[in-house]
Amino acid sequence: MRPIDPRPLANKLQSIPPFYVMEVVRIAEELESKGVDVIHLEVGEPDFSTSSSVIERACIALQAGKTRYTDARGIQALRDALSTWYKAQGLDVSARRIQITVGASAGLLLASAATTNPGEGVLMADPTYPCNPRFVEVVGGQVHWIETDISSRFQPTCEALELEAKASDRTLMLAHPANPTGQAVPSAELERMIQWCLETNRHLIVDEIYQSLSFNDALDSSLAISDQHFVVGSFSKYFNMTGWRLGWLVIPEYALEATQRLAQHLFICPTSFAQEAALSCFESDALEEAEMHRRELKERRDLLIPRLEAMGFKIAAEPDGAFYVFADASGVTDDSKQFCADLIRRTGVAITPGIDFSKSLPPTWIRIAYTQPEDRLLEALDRMARFIHD
Ligand SMILES: Cc1ncc(COP(=O)(O)O)c(C=O)c1O
Repeated sequence: MRPIDPRPLANKLQSIPPFYVMEVVRIAEELESKGVDVIHLEVGEPDFSTSSSVIERACIALQAGKTRYTDARGIQALRDALSTWYKAQGLDVSARRIQITVGASAGLLLASAATTNPGEGVLMADPTYPCNPRFVEVVGGQVHWIETDISSRFQPTCEALELEAKASDRTLMLAHPANPTGQAVPSAELERMIQWCLETNRHLIVDEIYQSLSFNDALDSSLAISDQHFVVGSFSKYFNMTGWRLGWLVIPEYALEATQRLAQHLFICPTSFAQEAALSCFESDALEEAEMHRRELKERRDLLIPRLEAMGFKIAAEPDGAFYVFADASGVTDDSKQFCADLIRRTGVAITPGIDFSKSLPPTWIRIAYTQPEDRLLEALDRMARFIHD
């Protein structure tokens, strides 16, 4: 058969940058195949397993034949359970506004598609979760980066938005707390930005998948301030269900009907038995387990930070939540990509270079995900200290 000329793919595929952490992952695999003990602190995934009550419920659901399409909005019982969960936080979020999604990823895509026309801008903090620009670009939008620094906890400020937003920027996307920093938006600033979006008639999407994983005072959802924006949630992180692909989107009334129609066309429905299983998340056993894990993550954060600082990493503000430390490693390297590659090769400790999350910060930042038990974290810290001081 005559060889077929490659047909050009969509232009937007050309601009997808590689994940630099994949080089670390590649070296980790190579080392592990040789029997080297690798400590994985690079992946944004909790090490805890899904609660056994959730797993049992999934098995029961499968046996009972819950393997067919569900209502496109998600099963009513799960939407009700989430509404009750918000009620326990003092929030009135009606189940009709809750769309169950295939992970937060589908919620972010859906909200981007619902709000953004081709050529319109979406305001977003740099640094950010690296998939966010893709959700925007795939629907034809353009990311308008807002450079941030530690003085605003790497979150945009209303002042910066007022100065930098163009008329064509129709949406603001926030994460509260954010990946890679673990920093929440300070509440007064959040209120101002919500107000700014309302006054300037812009859409707002707030990713709150780490909201329940906050370590100081309980972190209020942005829904406590307004119900006129999109809020993204997930079972992945707090409930340790990354592989189940289940999340939700709270949709503002003004966008409800159209967004739900789009969800139907894009996804048909979220996975049936995962939805049934997730009902168990809201029972006392699973909630206690999730809380226990949250406390453990806080202990890990508190263990890690002073030791990293003693090694020369700068952590200007303690992360509010999630399971990441985003640190300035300029005291130990001027090239974090090389540093991460050398660290894994020499010590078996896998961490992520900051350039995966930021275009504007100097190339000296790193992200450490504390997704290993305490003894493994201590071992990783020992290995890192030896590597740095050798
Ligand atoms: C900020 C943020 N949003 C969304 C996601 C995607 O989550 P999900 O597994 O629910 O799709 C992640 C995953 O790491 C994340 O860090």
